[in-house]
Amino acid sequence: MIIAIDGPTASGKGTISRELAAHFQLPLMDTGLLYRAVGWTVREMGGDPDSEEDALKGCIFEGALLSDPVLRNEGVGAYASKVSIHPAVRQTLNKRQKDFATQPGGAILDGRDIGTVIAPDADVKLFVTASAEARAVRRFEEMIGRGEKVNFDDILADIMKRDERDMNRSAAPLKPAEDADLLDTTDLTIGDAVQQAIALVNAKI
Ligand code: C5P
Repeated sequence: MIIAIDGPTASGKGTISRELAAHFQLPLMDTGLLYRAVGWTVREMGGDPDSEEDALKGCIFEGALLSDPVLRNEGVGAYASKVSIHPAVRQTLNKRQKDFATQPGGAILDGRDIGTVIAPDADVKLFVTASAEARAVRRFEEMIGRGEKVNFDDILADIMKRDERDMNRSAAPLKPAEDADLLDTTDLTIGDAVQQAIALVNAKI
């Protein structure tokens, strides 16, 4: 069974993916980490994420980087969003994702173009979404919880900028696959969102 989960930042897709992986006992790939690793590497090199040449150089990184918490910060997310625009970068990262998707026994992948590009034949495709404001509130509370000093309006503006870039790029833009099930988590607790996701998967298998 292949489960493709796509959606914008802070929609709840990360948590939903982890819970589905545990529930259905499937290996999970958070594909955003690949783009984050490229973004982080470009930043470390002092490179320009808008330059395809620099972004391609960033595609050469150690596998251990993928489990490093440094990839999770907001600055790296912005670099990731910029390097992910380049078709050559996407091409370079696609093989790894397609290999993971087609491993025997099945898999779950979470990203932006899983249902449309990486695994168009996935058994289940979920597009997890929520209003920009709801997503900004979640991100704000998460960061406050970590003791970070943050401004809500900056977070909302950053989320909207990232959405705009992810949805309007020409290479593999963020959009639901035609046959995806939509899961809007704006007014759901994360527990309810997970239960609905499990029900949607069960309805397909
Ligand atoms: O999901 P996450 O926030 O970690 O992703 C970081 C960035 O990587 C996204 O904003 C998006 O631009 C890019 N990305 C992508 N395709 C994917 C996963 C992530 O373009 N499959």
